[in-house]
This record gives sequence, structure tokens and C-alpha cells, in this order.
Amino acid sequence: MKRLQLGTISLVLLLIILTKSSTTNAVEDDSVKNEESDKEEQNHVPNSTSSYGIEIVGEMEEDEWEMVQKRGNQFVVNEKPFYINGFNTYWLMVFAVDESTRGKVTEVFQQASSVGMTVCRTWAFNDAQWRALQKSPSVYDEDVFKALDFVVSEAKKYKIRLILSLANNWEAYGGKAQYVKWGKDAGLNVSSDDDFFSHPTLRTYYKNHVKTVLNRVNTLTNITYKEDPTIFAWELMNEPRCTSDPTGDKLQDWIQEMAFHVKKIDAKHLVEIGVEGFYGPSTPHRTQFNPNSYATQVGTDFIRNHQVLGVDFASAHIYADSWISQQISESHLEFITSWMKSHIEDAEKHLGMPIIFAEFGVSSKDPGYNATYRDNLITSVYKTILNSTKKGGSGGGTLLWQVFPEGTDNMDDGYAIVLSKSPSTSAVVSLQSSRLALFNSMCSSKFQWSCKKKKVIYDPHDEF
Ligand SMILES: *[C@@H]1O[C@H](CO)[C@@H](O)[C@H](O)[C@H]1NC(C)=O
Ligand SMILES: *[C@@H]1O[C@H](CO)[C@@H](O)[C@H](O)[C@H]1NC(C)=O
Ligand SMILES: *[C@@H]1O[C@H](CO)[C@@H](O)[C@H](O)[C@H]1NC(C)=O
Ligand SMILES: *[C@@H]1O[C@H](CO)[C@@H](O)[C@H](O)[C@H]1NC(C)=O
Ligand SMILES: *[C@@H]1O[C@H](CO)[C@@H](O)[C@H](O)[C@H]1NC(C)=O
Repeated sequence: MKRLQLGTISLVLLLIILTKSSTTNAVEDDSVKNEESDKEEQNHVPNSTSSYGIEIVGEMEEDEWEMVQKRGNQFVVNEKPFYINGFNTYWLMVFAVDESTRGKVTEVFQQASSVGMTVCRTWAFNDAQWRALQKSPSVYDEDVFKALDFVVSEAKKYKIRLILSLANNWEAYGGKAQYVKWGKDAGLNVSSDDDFFSHPTLRTYYKNHVKTVLNRVNTLTNITYKEDPTIFAWELMNEPRCTSDPTGDKLQDWIQEMAFHVKKIDAKHLVEIGVEGFYGPSTPHRTQFNPNSYATQVGTDFIRNHQVLGVDFASAHIYADSWISQQISESHLEFITSWMKSHIEDAEKHLGMPIIFAEFGVSSKDPGYNATYRDNLITSVYKTILNSTKKGGSGGGTLLWQVFPEGTDNMDDGYAIVLSKSPSTSAVVSLQSSRLALFNSMCSSKFQWSCKKKKVIYDPHDEF
């Protein structure tokens, strides 16, 4: 009870801080920074203990480390909503294999948590490539599995939950092409990479991989992955596409079988598919929101895919530079807003589930790119999600693609954000974290007010 009162007092303080700050643009917003901002400037990464009151919220979060669940269109933990500011770092397992690079895993968790991020999406696959987890079907490298164990146990230390993706559509780290190659090696009559989705033997390979990962007992914590609250959700596949069947039937059938398969082994964790979110044949009236006409041809179908039993929440990615034009343009921001709004609306009205924008970012290699543009893009995404969050809506969160520690440039595809070198971006991220942390605690059933009452607190003209 004592805690609760302390928390309530802190919360009121926090409200004052944030209400003041929320009327100005996040990028230029320095009003929330306190006297310690000079010190932060030196460190580059603002400390959670010194900025934006995250530490105050932290005091209220002394509950046990419990599974994330879904209630209606919200994520919840310990009866509190769990709106997410998170990030991607795909290579964590691979770096954790070797002692010389393992420290980078810790660094990225440390830096991300210092700006209040709570979820990381990363690969729990690496098929027959450098430092492979799965060397051949159902044959695993124990050292690499131990590296994944490390990633999971290290994430918990920094109070970061993981979305673990179980396969790749693309060839990096193996992907569906590698499964097809294994099939060929085993004498199967397969040719197209999309046989990954349809060939019964390849489906079995994938299902075995899923089973192995979910039943893994972490050698560092002794916790079975399927029992571990550090894992936020399972992702069936990174960006599945099945261009060989634009009707979407082939992929739909695969999703049905695999979502059920995951749930059968692990009923506790949430499941998402990993699609990019393109509208498909089942919703011709929504295809206007796609970035281009090709998007309807890739065999995915946002609404239909997410109606599958066992799929708990929706995902979409946001890449104006890859989907519309590589040349940076202000019009990209308009696309991004409309893309997000349409998906949030669908998640709310048609799917009745939360949605996570599981990858978004901009490449520094794009013509016309500059750091200000990147901050504006991130701010725009954050604002749009907050518009849903503050109403208790389906906009469950966003995951930046991607956050790297220093000294990992060789892994960078152009999108990497090194927080310690990007103070302005760190400030944007921190502000979003503290705002979401505020909503998460404010809407707690443990407090006297509910989400709805917060309208009284916020200035109605406040557009964030
Ligand atoms: C920031 O964090 C670092 C490492 O935890 C610590 O050494 C430093 O004193 C902190 N700075 C402030 C301003 O709290
Ligand atoms: C291999 O599959 C193709 C297409 O699915 C089919 O046309 C062909 O007859 C098959 N070949 C054999 C040897 O079964
Ligand atoms: C895990 O289990 C083993 C064997 O039961 C035990 O020796 C070890 O101390 C346990 N480790 C942890 C971290 O609980
Ligand atoms: C940054 O890029 C945007 C978009 O290309 C452009 O409009 C803006 O003028 C640039 N700003 C600077 C400071 O270069
Ligand atoms: C926020 O939501 C309101 C309706 O609830 C809508 O009119 C407005 O355009 C939204 N703003 C953004 C930036 O999404």
C-alpha cells in the first residue's frame, strides 16, 4: 500500500512534467530535460535515472515479471496496459556465440533500456549459415543455442521482453530458400522457394524447428522458453510473402497450420505472423492504402491473415523508402500516417486485436536523407501511435528498425541508429517511452482513475 501512495504522488509529478512538454514538438522539445541535460549531452545517451521521470514509473513496476497477455485490443501485464516502445536488433544470437562479440548484446540492451525501450525483436533462426543455429533439419549447434539462451537471460536483466522470429522469408540467415535446399538434398521434388509453405515435408521441418525452440530449456536460467515471460511473443516468420500464389490461399493455409502448431505447444505466449501488412484480395476497398499496386500481388492479405485462429495480434512494417521511392520525400510522411491509421482502425474495428508496427525506419543511404528527417519520421510514427494509445486503442506499439551499439557497422543495412551517437534521436525515443510508460501506469486498475478519466487531465487541444 505504501508503494501505491508513493507511486501515486510520483505519477502526479510525472503528469505535470509530461503535460507541459506535450504541447511542443518532440524534436525541438527540451523543456522536459532538467539541469542534468549538459551531462547527458556528454554521455549522449540520456540516463533513465535522470531524464523524463522513467525512473519514477519504474518504482511502480516492482511487480513480478509476468507474461504479457492480451485483453481485447490491448496488451496487458499485471493488469496494466502494456503499450510498447521497442526496437529491432536482428543479430543478437549470432553475436552472443563468440565471447569477443557477446558484449555487444549487453550494450544494446543497456542503451535501449536507458531510453525506456521495453521490447526487442530478434531472430531465433539461423539456418545453415555462418554460426548457424540449425545446421540441417533438426540438427542444432549447442553453442549457438546457448548464445540464444544468453540473449534471453540478458534481456531480462534489462527488463526487455523479446519477440522471437522463427524463420525468414529472405535468404539472410537461411530462410525459406534454405528449407527448400534441404528438401532438394533429401530428394524432394521441390523447386520454388514458396514450396516452403506448401510441401508437407518442409512444413514438418519448420514445425520441428518451432517445437525445438519452444521446448528449449535455457541453460543459464533453467526456464523453458515456452514458460519464460521474457519472451513477449513468437513470430511465425519475418515478412512472409508467397508471390507464387497472389490469391493468398497458400500462405493463409500455412499460417493456419503454424499458428495452431505454436499454440498447441505453447498456449501461454502470444503469437503474431510477421507480415508487412499489405492489403490483399479479401479487402479490395482497403488496397488504396497500399504503397504500390505490386503489394496486392505478393500473396499476403492483412485482414484475412490476421483472422486466423491462434494469431493474437497484428503486425505491419513501414518502409516508404523501400516501397515508394528511395528518394526521401515529405510525401513519405503522409503515406506513413495514412498506412498506420488504416491498420490501427482495422485492428480495432475488424480484428479486435492490438497491432504492433514491428519495423519502421529510414536508411541513411537514401538520396536526400539527413538526421533531421529521420527524427521527424520517427516523431511522426510515434505521434500517430500515441493518438491511438491515449484513447486506449489498438495501436499497441512500434519497434524501430534498428538499434545498434557502437562498433557493429558491418551489420548495418543503412537503417541502424546508434543511440550513443545520436542525442537528438535518443531524446525523441526517450520522450515516447516516458509517455507510454505514463499511459501504462495511468490506466492500471490498481489506481483510482481509469484510462477514460485521463481526458480530464489532458488539454483537449493537445495533439501531441
Ligand atoms: C548514468 O549512468 C551511468 C552508468 O550507469 C552512471 O555512471 C552515471 O553516473 C549516470 N549519470 C547520471 C547523470 O545519472
Ligand atoms: C515434380 O513436381 C512438379 C510440379 O509440382 C510436377 O509437375 C512433376 O511431375 C513432379 N515430378 C516428379 C518426378 O514427381
Ligand atoms: C539449473 O539446474 C541445474 C540442475 O538441476 C542446477 O545445478 C543449476 O544450479 C540450476 N541453475 C539455475 C540458474 O537455477
Ligand atoms: C533534410 O532532408 C529533408 C528531406 O529531404 C529536407 O527537406 C531538409 O531540407 C533537409 N534538412 C537539412 C538541414 O538538410
Ligand atoms: C488522431 O485521431 C483523431 C480522431 O480520433 C483524428 O481526427 C486525427 O487525425 C488523428 N491524428 C493523427 C496524427 O493520427
